[in-house]
Amino acid sequence: MKIWPRSLLARALPVLLIGLVAAQGGGVYLHMIDRGDLARLGQARDVAARVMAVYRAVVMSAPDGGRVALLRAIELPPGTRAALLEAPPAEMLPAPLSLTRLIQADLTLSSVPYHLRPHDVVVLGSLYDRLVEVGLALPDHGWLAVTVRVPAPELWHSPLDLGLFLGLTALAAVLFLIVVRRLIAPITALTAAAEALGRDVDAPPLPEAGPREIAAAAAAFNRMAGRIRRFVQDRTFLLTAIGHDLRTPITRLKLRAEFLEDDEMRRKILADLDEMEAMLAATLMFGRDAAASEQATTLDLVALIRTVLDEAADAAPDVAEHLTYAGPERLLLAARPLALKRALANLIANAVKYGDGAAVRLRPPEGRMAAGGMAVIEIEDGGPGVAEADIERIFQPFQRLEASRNRETGGSGLGLPIARNILRAHGGDVTLTNRPSGGLRATVSLPV
Ligand SMILES: Nc1ncnc2c1ncn2[C@@H]1O[C@H](COP(=O)(O)OP(=O)(O)OP(=O)(O)O)[C@@H](O)[C@H]1O
Ligand SMILES: [Mg+2]
Repeated sequence: MKIWPRSLLARALPVLLIGLVAAQGGGVYLHMIDRGDLARLGQARDVAARVMAVYRAVVMSAPDGGRVALLRAIELPPGTRAALLEAPPAEMLPAPLSLTRLIQADLTLSSVPYHLRPHDVVVLGSLYDRLVEVGLALPDHGWLAVTVRVPAPELWHSPLDLGLFLGLTALAAVLFLIVVRRLIAPITALTAAAEALGRDVDAPPLPEAGPREIAAAAAAFNRMAGRIRRFVQDRTFLLTAIGHDLRTPITRLKLRAEFLEDDEMRRKILADLDEMEAMLAATLMFGRDAAASEQATTLDLVALIRTVLDEAADAAPDVAEHLTYAGPERLLLAARPLALKRALANLIANAVKYGDGAAVRLRPPEGRMAAGGMAVIEIEDGGPGVAEADIERIFQPFQRLEASRNRETGGSGLGLPIARNILRAHGGDVTLTNRPSGGLRATVSLPV
């Protein structure tokens, strides 16, 4: 089941909102209970006061016979009825003890001369049923029953209260949203920085600002990036230093080889030394590539591909007709022009060298997300292809396949690793596949 959303914001926010609503709901519930209690206390007082008013009028002003007439004559407040009975009223259930006590206490406090006070009081009904009946035993004989209809307690002072409450809840929710987003923002920044570092060790450092923990994380990340940068620089420097220093002994060896008697042997040794020199030259170039920090600019990929094809045709006029391009007439993207050109030139050179031609196809990014998508360049040749087992191996430096080693097409085995290095530094990649119809296909992806 995948009901749990993936984004941190989408996960944190519902939890916080549920918590907020629960806390607010609890608060409102307590408030309503409190207000209800208070309101009912007031209502009990009110009932007692009304009852006592009627009682006082009945017991003090009228003699026995006149009471009925009096009850008819006095104007009772709305929701109040009064009747004279022979026995205590009993149509309703007895009231809860708390209410009975409250009313009895209030009655005792009222200003009726002692000898006229009711000598018995029964309370029926309840505030919850909104109907309370109080029976009072008259001092001489019979009962006075007063029924009071109680309005429902008002739990909110006014609609404004509810509005204010909802407004505050919404405000808290918005604050949550802002805080959670602000907390998540550095994670997104860190992701982007890690991504950028993977493409380019010289990527700009993260700003070490903001709250302490986030600044500390950014500082740690920057230190790590610095160490990686130094590590890469040291390795590159070591590589070029070795490449450079080996050139002198090779030159010496070449000079010494000239004195060899055996012609055949001398020719072979010199050929080997030449090969070593070429490898060293390529190594030095590789080191320079890694060290060079070319600026990225917006360039037209199609123009770049066409230039590379033209140059390949100049270098190998006999395969010029097999160098083709298919795709859009223009595709702008941000890249380091010289590096990208070298990457494509290496791939196209391989297609020419080992496959006698290169058919280049460019596909712009697909779908609506054209901006964040990948352009795909396919470079196909009609050569022998590469055994599946060797496909990843030839991306390693100095890896050449035996078949090609014997050909006059000398190379150092750095073309593919350099191309992949450059493309990955651009956020893209290159993969090789054998075409079903024979030949190799290099698939280059490049973010646009
Ligand atoms: N299109 C291809 N068809 C067949 N084999 C290929 C193809 N491209 C590369 N290879 C094989 O992969 C090996 C490595 O290629 P890579 O470009 O890295 O080095 P290289 O071409 O030998 O030398 P360099 O490019 O440095 O001059 C090649 O020697 C070749 O055997
Ligand atoms: Mg090559």
